[in-house]
Amino acid sequence: MSFDKLLGNDAQEAQRHVPIIEAPERVKAGKSFEVKIRVGEKPHPYTFPHHIFSILVFLEVENRPPLLVLRYDPFPPLVEPRFSFFLSLDTTSVLHAVASCNIHGIWEGEKKIEVI
Ligand SMILES: [Fe+2]
Repeated sequence: MSFDKLLGNDAQEAQRHVPIIEAPERVKAGKSFEVKIRVGEKPHPYTFPHHIFSILVFLEVENRPPLLVLRYDPFPPLVEPRFSFFLSLDTTSVLHAVASCNIHGIWEGEKKIEVI
């Protein structure tokens, strides 16, 4: 999956915008595990003037179209742009998190999770 035409490309802004996906590198088939997602190595603001208004999580499995598995719409300034959820997989997959900033556009982070 590629969002090349939509993705931000400013290296400094990338530190505040590229979603970070924390999940195990390897999991057992069908066994639930936790996935944590936050926006940026440096925390992104969540104020009315500058905030993340949507984080979409896609699951990409080889030879299949990416599947939207979760949508998170934090309400600034009350809700931070970070969350966790539980997932179970049967096949090695790539998780994609796509964050939308009201000022700096769309940013993508990804993580491959191997199923053993
Ligand atoms: Fe931003």
